[in-house]
Amino acid sequence: MPTLLHIDSSPLYGRSVSRELTAAFVAEWKASHPDGKVIERDLNATTILPITAEWVGAGYTPEDARTPEQKAVLALSDSLVAELEQADEYVIGVPMHNFGVPSVLKLWIDQIARAGKTFSYADGTPKGLLTGKKATFLIATGGIYDAQTQMASFNFVEPYLRSVFGFLGVTDATFLTAGGTMALNYGQDRAAFLAPHLQAVQTHVQTI
Ligand SMILES: Cc1cc2nc3c(=O)[nH]c(=O)nc-3n(C[C@H](O)[C@H](O)[C@H](O)COP(=O)(O)O)c2cc1C
Repeated sequence: MPTLLHIDSSPLYGRSVSRELTAAFVAEWKASHPDGKVIERDLNATTILPITAEWVGAGYTPEDARTPEQKAVLALSDSLVAELEQADEYVIGVPMHNFGVPSVLKLWIDQIARAGKTFSYADGTPKGLLTGKKATFLIATGGIYDAQTQMASFNFVEPYLRSVFGFLGVTDATFLTAGGTMALNYGQDRAAFLAPHLQAVQTHVQTI
């Protein structure tokens, strides 16, 4: 059964552009995979604590030697990693916050980047362990950061996500960005703004 992991990270819910795009992706994906399963992970509704010394210590303790306390410290991380392992495809909604990814998404990345589980340095070189996956990142930005624009070098969202996910083995990644959402605050019609982006999402789902 094909499985899709659907992740959102915008706190704006009904007003969020990235959430509207991921919802369209999921609807289209379900239509073309009637037997498929969707795992929902809303990062704004998941409590994820920052990494602690205990977490690091537990992660580097061999699994069969972990104390019950260490297992408890890693429990959420284990289940978030399991979601990534179970799914064949990922769709991840990302609002740009302060030129980077929102803090809830960074907290999640800190939980799923696990030595020995999602990456390995076993033979001295880094090796991503999440292989054979397809990821689609649906990004919304208030300004415009297209290549060749003056602001392009301020965009730390796509380069960061491409690097981190590539490091974890997810090299088949597509980035679709709805840039310039701030126009919505100045009276631009939302449906007209979203139409080409929703179309791009639909076309993309049909090609993967
Ligand atoms: C806390 C916060 C920080 C933001 N920082 C930026 C920024 O650095 N650059 C930018 O172009 N837009 C910025 N924005 C605007 C968002 O990128 C824009 O509203 C986008 O549509 C967010 O995605 P969403 O609609 O899915 O929430 C910021 C918005 C918020 C709430």
